[in-house]
Amino acid sequence: MPSNIPEIQFKGYAVHDTKNWTTFELIDFEPKPFEDYDIDIKIEYCGVCGSDVHTITGGWGKPTLPIIPGHEIVGKAVRVGPKVSSIKVGDRVGVGAQICSCMKCEQCKNDNEQYCPKAVNTYSSHYPNAEKTLSQGGYSTAVRAHERFVFPIPSALPLEEAAPMLCAGLTVYSPLVRNGAGKGKKVGVVGVGGLGHFAIQFARALECDRIVAFSHSSHKQDDAVELGATEVVITGKAGFEESLVGQLDLIICTADVSDGIPLREIMSTLNVHGRLIMVAIPNEDLPSLMSSDLSKNGSFLGGSKIGSKKEALEMLDLAVKKGVKPWIEMLSMKDCGTAVKAVKEGNVHYRHVLKMDIE
Ligand SMILES: NC(=O)c1ccc[n+]([C@@H]2O[C@H](COP(=O)([O-])OP(=O)(O)OC[C@H]3O[C@@H](n4cnc5c(N)ncnc54)[C@H](OP(=O)(O)O)[C@@H]3O)[C@@H](O)[C@H]2O)c1
Ligand SMILES: [Zn+2]
Ligand SMILES: [Zn+2]
Repeated sequence: MPSNIPEIQFKGYAVHDTKNWTTFELIDFEPKPFEDYDIDIKIEYCGVCGSDVHTITGGWGKPTLPIIPGHEIVGKAVRVGPKVSSIKVGDRVGVGAQICSCMKCEQCKNDNEQYCPKAVNTYSSHYPNAEKTLSQGGYSTAVRAHERFVFPIPSALPLEEAAPMLCAGLTVYSPLVRNGAGKGKKVGVVGVGGLGHFAIQFARALECDRIVAFSHSSHKQDDAVELGATEVVITGKAGFEESLVGQLDLIICTADVSDGIPLREIMSTLNVHGRLIMVAIPNEDLPSLMSSDLSKNGSFLGGSKIGSKKEALEMLDLAVKKGVKPWIEMLSMKDCGTAVKAVKEGNVHYRHVLKMDIE
């Protein structure tokens, strides 16, 4: 390595066995070879996402081990490739759940790079040109990402508050704006967790008329109102949907369960041609529906995957203007086992952020 390039040690907390997914050990890892558009980020904070838990528990299938999770990453750029034009060394930056794509396909050319068939996830993913290298996530000292997936963090946002926006925030912001959330709209948010607590805040920031939070128990009622919900509906109660039938334009579903979610009843709260967008990705199949559940209000059921860089930059800007911020519980990075356990048990209000502690 030439002498003007800082020496970065790539080390992180890894799970070695999906059965012991709360046990992390510090390992060294080899990032992909550095290329012209790459940026190395020295990590300061990393959020803990529900997807980290699905991956390390093997809920979505057996991952390649050992695996370092974490894709809500913020820190400083310490090395930038010769073709990088938007970021310089020392900038406050972050990455979310994606670090590369093909840059050439229809999706990449149209601000849909998250849907690129060759998308490289921040962790547990192989590069098309460096197939032996497994990407590793942000419970670590550093990450290497293509410029397109590196987001400058506005100076008004503390880094630790920006971190959870880069997956949880973006994953709800994108389907809200793509499906018309704004003035005059009535929006529902199912699940008040990491994603859900952002969805309520962004629906408010986008000036939606009504924001209905659906939560499975009554514990989060006051929090949901404080976050911006105009109504809170407890889905654990029979008949919860009756007063809302046919009223909502858009519902973002973040509830991380398959059998526990009363999908049919929730769909019935949609207005004509209203849409329910699933962003949660539970381990199991969704509950079954009858065609008539969709035809009776002409409703649509769809999905959404993170968001584009264009949307990420708009979202960060809106967060600054409207004061959207995560409710975070900070832990030292070595306590990542405690953090993932709390997510699995539904005990986080509403995002754990890990603070770098690796020397
Ligand atoms: N599509 C994407 O690109 C993308 C990106 C990031 C994450 N995700 C996925 O989104 C989901 C949510 O992630 P997260 O980080 O927000 O997780 P989280 O903080 O754990 O929130 C999930 C929420 O699901 C609800 N829930 C949990 N257990 C439940 C139960 N037994 N019955 C009913 N509801 C229950 C809870 O809300 P209430 O207590 O209010 O009911 C909980 O707060 C995960 O599946 C994750 O993998 C997808
Ligand atoms: Zn995530
Ligand atoms: Zn592509």
